[in-house]
Amino acid sequence: SESERTPRIEAALDELGDEAVVLGHNYQRREIVEHADFVGDSYELSKRAAEADAEYVIFGGVTFMAESADIITDDDQTVILPSMEASCPMAGMAEALQVDAAWAEITAAAPDAEIIPITYMNSYADLKAFCASQGGLVCTSSNAHRAFEWAFERGDKVLFLPDKHLGENTAHRLGMEDEVATWDPWDPAGKDPDEVVESDIICWDGYCQVHERFTAEHVEQVREDHRGARVVVHPECRREVVEAADVVGSTSTICETIETADPGETWAIGTEIHLTEHLQRWHPEVEVLPLCGDACMDCNAMRQIDPNYLAWVLEELVAGRERNVIEVAADEKELAGVALERMLEV
Ligand code: 13P
Ligand code: SF4
Repeated sequence: SESERTPRIEAALDELGDEAVVLGHNYQRREIVEHADFVGDSYELSKRAAEADAEYVIFGGVTFMAESADIITDDDQTVILPSMEASCPMAGMAEALQVDAAWAEITAAAPDAEIIPITYMNSYADLKAFCASQGGLVCTSSNAHRAFEWAFERGDKVLFLPDKHLGENTAHRLGMEDEVATWDPWDPAGKDPDEVVESDIICWDGYCQVHERFTAEHVEQVREDHRGARVVVHPECRREVVEAADVVGSTSTICETIETADPGETWAIGTEIHLTEHLQRWHPEVEVLPLCGDACMDCNAMRQIDPNYLAWVLEELVAGRERNVIEVAADEKELAGVALERMLEV
């Protein structure tokens, strides 16, 4: 169908020229993605941010992604998030102070063990800094297994934050599914020191409220309704959903799966609905379906970035005013940068 580009955004981008680059996550609305210089998964976006020369990096995504871009870009580059309301609820489930307190309990439970903390990219800079300070690192959904391997070369246990589903799915991928315990900081009964001693992988009890809603019944239903349909899901989905699917991977793996599908194949996608809609539009030769029937899986954090906000921050830049700058505090920046560098190296 017709383009959904906005003339105001085009005009401001023309005016800014090489001064600004727009990065867009795969879950961004169509009206944003169509203005992006690069669209990708969290890992690719952090690499693109690191490589960008532009003075302004306009980030179509959520706060933790913009923070990571600020950490990874040079000091004279400025990262702008079109809406300050775009915060991933999962990232908010592991606050650095709370993790600090849990860390004391967990390390006390297994005093002889070398525990390496790994945080998912979906976390704030202070938690990334904490992980670096304890010898750990950051990972995304595309390299979690490699981060775990890196950690097990250096220690005997992993504390994985904040997404328990990605933690469990990664443990399974490494053949360590029997080694997993969950640490629920909100429930005294969910913090068992004995489990810490017995398990090699301790998963913080966080989750994505979009992906957690997919169920194994959704997979069963789509296979029943569409003969021959295959299913690709994100590893933030529950273990049983991943188990029932044909392919699991980051948002860019999901894109590649559809890009390389033969014409006429049917694929159901278990992830945020905007990506499913982009893939339907980009690959009309493939039958692309949302895994849960009527498109209920919408990330309200990603949706905060709308074309009006994008137009506004760009027009303000044209007028010489920087709005919605994402700037990580200097002390956190250095350590969080170490955690991100370790990820880019594994
Ligand atoms: P990707 O790293 O796969 O792009 O995922 C980011 C995300 O927020 C998934 O919910
Ligand atoms: Fe966070 Fe889930 Fe939204 Fe990804 S889809 S940004 S994990 S709430």
